[in-house]
Amino acid sequence: MNNPMLADKVVVVSGVGPGLGRSICTESAAAGAKVVLAARTESRLKEVAAEIEAAGGETLCVPTDITDDDAVQALVAHTLDTFGRVDVLVNNAFSVPSMKSLARTDFQQISDSLDLTVLGNLRMTQAFTEALAETKGAVVMINSAVLRHSEPRYGSYKVAKSALLAMSQTLATELGPKGIRVNTVAPGYIWNDQLKWYFGEIAKKYGITTEQVYEQTAAKSDLKRLPEPDEIARAVVFLASPWANAITGQTLDVNCGEYHV
Ligand SMILES: NC(=O)c1ccc[n+]([C@@H]2O[C@H](COP(=O)([O-])OP(=O)(O)OC[C@H]3O[C@@H](n4cnc5c(N)ncnc54)[C@H](OP(=O)(O)O)[C@@H]3O)[C@@H](O)[C@H]2O)c1
Repeated sequence: MNNPMLADKVVVVSGVGPGLGRSICTESAAAGAKVVLAARTESRLKEVAAEIEAAGGETLCVPTDITDDDAVQALVAHTLDTFGRVDVLVNNAFSVPSMKSLARTDFQQISDSLDLTVLGNLRMTQAFTEALAETKGAVVMINSAVLRHSEPRYGSYKVAKSALLAMSQTLATELGPKGIRVNTVAPGYIWNDQLKWYFGEIAKKYGITTEQVYEQTAAKSDLKRLPEPDEIARAVVFLASPWANAITGQTLDVNCGEYHV
């Protein structure tokens, strides 16, 4: 174990994909937590779980669609049957937004995005509230730096993530008396395989190198670099841990200083 910040804690991560979801799981395990992995694709959950178990960690994989009431209730039951408690819920689930102007985005797309990002995360939080109240636990919502800008084509994503932030702040107020903390991590760029591929495509289009695309992008941040997935995940671990016991209703931006709030 690298550090004991989440020793003996049970952390449920919803929306475990190859990017940030994976890093949140591995960093939580490295901090001593038992990790419950939930998303729809069982094979991916098992890959991440195998990585954690190879390093000596404990996991439970529960294939779950967070837009489905029965699936979420089954996740709660399976978690409590296996580990007997829940200390942390991290709501990370993500699907690629429309990337069209709001004028050209059809309502069904916006509705699907709200269904996942707002109602899916609310359904998860409601379902785990009783268990989290028992442990005076924590919820961490994964948001985005889209909160900090209004660039064209990000409208649908911004609508959903802004509603998620509003919901997170209200949940902090409503669940605070039960001892449950609700905080947000808002990453900007994440230097992961997806972004490496995308910068490669931009480089080809403009006849420059991927490194030049990276440098031009990173130039807008104070630290002149882009955060790695594990660096975002460690901010999540911090907010989930007892080190953040007096912090609730807050948003931690992790973007190497691209935006100041
Ligand atoms: N990637 C970035 O650059 C970036 C930047 C800023 C913020 N963020 C935020 O960071 C978070 C993670 O993004 P990521 O790109 O790194 O994603 P990721 O963790 O690699 O994957 C997220 C996973 O969510 C799962 N998911 C989607 N719909 C679901 C549903 N209905 N029920 C359960 N799980 C579902 C998908 O797995 P299944 O298909 O298997 O269900 C997907 O693989 C998101 O909240 C995103 O908004 C990302």
